Amino acid sequence: MPQNLLALNWKMNKTPSEAMKWAETLASQLPQTQAELAILAPAIDLPALAQKLNGSSVGWGAQDISQHESGAYTGEISAAMLGDVGAKYAIVGHSERRLYQSESSQIVASKAAAAINGGIVPIICVGEGLDVREKGEQVPFTLDQLRDSLSQVPVLRADQMVVAYEPVWAIGTGKTATAQDAGEMADAIRDALRGLYREYAGDVRILYGGSVKPGNIAEICAQPNVNGALVGGASLDVESVVGLAQALA
Ligand code: 13P
Repeated sequence: MPQNLLALNWKMNKTPSEAMKWAETLASQLPQTQAELAILAPAIDLPALAQKLNGSSVGWGAQDISQHESGAYTGEISAAMLGDVGAKYAIVGHSERRLYQSESSQIVASKAAAAINGGIVPIICVGEGLDVREKGEQVPFTLDQLRDSLSQVPVLRADQMVVAYEPVWAIGTGKTATAQDAGEMADAIRDALRGLYREYAGDVRILYGGSVKPGNIAEICAQPNVNGALVGGASLDVESVVGLAQALA
């Protein structure tokens, strides 16, 4: 079974000085845990994280990545740039970017491919909104989104990508999918991955995200096909991150 990944999505929070202080505090309080920790920070914070965390067991990365290798794309950050400062991961297709930046699954697929080609592991996010969930169509919706988002992803090794199931109605709302709901979706995602990537599918990590807290992470990650969590709000305080890591230990 792959090692659990505790992925911390800071979203648009923390200046570089705050990030540096946070990383120092974390380094001094880090509990023993079986899980791999990774911080997904605003791009401008990454050099600060590099300074504090390179050489430690804590990984880090970006919240987005360009679909292009280089060139006239004002404001974009490439896989090579992220790799150069030591980033390991990049979130792609977070529902907030799909919504506010109108990112389609086709764009997400290009970004995921650009990440893999540039040596960055994409954390590819999928998940349904409340309207879809209320109609009971969450599984076909999420799997369609997954297949479209993976349409350009030539996975050669399972550790080259991570999939995160984040039901949009559970993000930042305090409403969590039940562990059973998360587990059922993770099972469906695993089956879909098997159809796409055969023997590699078993080792791809599938995360759950949406109002994950120290009090609910253990039950969610106990589901057979859930291999960790993508955490927003509860990732901002070191104390809460220590709680999350201990709950997974
Ligand atoms: P919350 O943990 O704040 O619900 O956010 C989840 C999320 O969007 C992580 O990417």
